Amino acid sequence: MYRFRRLRKDERIRSIMQETRLHPKDFIYPIFVTEGDNIKNPVASMPGVYQYSVDKLDEILVQIRETGIGGIMLFGLPAYKDPEGSQAYAEDGITQRAVRFIKENYPEIYIVVDICLCEYTSHGHCGMVCGNEILNDKTLPYLTRMAVSLAEAGADMVAPSDMMDGRVEAIREGLDKAGFAQIPIMAYSAKFASAYYGPFREAAHSVPGFGDRKSYQMDCANGQEALREIAADIEEGADIVMVKPALAYLDVLKEASLTFDAPLAVYNVSGEYAMVKAAAANGWIDEQRIVMENLTAMKRAGAKIIITYHAVDAAGWMQERV
Ligand code: PBG
Ligand code: ZN
Repeated sequence: MYRFRRLRKDERIRSIMQETRLHPKDFIYPIFVTEGDNIKNPVASMPGVYQYSVDKLDEILVQIRETGIGGIMLFGLPAYKDPEGSQAYAEDGITQRAVRFIKENYPEIYIVVDICLCEYTSHGHCGMVCGNEILNDKTLPYLTRMAVSLAEAGADMVAPSDMMDGRVEAIREGLDKAGFAQIPIMAYSAKFASAYYGPFREAAHSVPGFGDRKSYQMDCANGQEALREIAADIEEGADIVMVKPALAYLDVLKEASLTFDAPLAVYNVSGEYAMVKAAAANGWIDEQRIVMENLTAMKRAGAKIIITYHAVDAAGWMQERV
């Protein structure tokens, strides 16, 4: 009999033997930015998450800076929406203004911007619409325009989440032409059509006005296809590829980590956060232990980057420990 318990005897030896260790730099914290002044709106289904107007961002940005989190990811809530999502690439759009504000006042914070039209289109879909169809190729120039516009505002990285085919190549070409060859692309490559995005759509006002996103996001049954999506995005020039959501898709993440040598990100999405917070609020689980267990599992499965609404709390707990 081999005695595994010798290396589990007490906390000292257990911490020496730990294979996976989380660090605040592993995390990217999503932030919702809204038009208006003096706004800090709680998102009902995501306790602890708020929509901030630009003038109220300081509060959260100071925490980000102090906890040493890797970066932030911005989602904008525009003043108005139209079929072309024109506020997504307007020079004075809400996300552009937020980026400029953060760049100027918190230059040490790494800014990732989500590239997608669904928060900006009146129909709530991630691309251009004709009848009931979501058009692929017609959408690409709009996404490219959005990426270039946010790079001009000062974003450090762009992250297309729309799931149109060929968007990584289109955005790469657009960024290069505009003089942004040094801006990396983190592609939401294996993004599944998931019920776990429910709370986000409330937070970001991006519920599709008709139908669903199944003609562009992936079927949750398809692991093989996920690998092909990731391979295609690497081929098109993605610097980082992502699996989303996290917990129900750790098999996909693990397989991707064994198959590809590109850096992997995982998105611990709104519904995953909501479930943990709801159970914790009822006293049914130990929030801190559950969150650290979940985040550790994501890193163990192969994620280099974890995008998570728990980032500020988790980084804070990690500081308290040392
Ligand atoms: C926009 C986008 C979504 C999420 C990230 N970017 C929603 C969607 O595709 O419907 C989901 C994030 C989350 O649930 O936390 N395309
Ligand atoms: Zn979208």
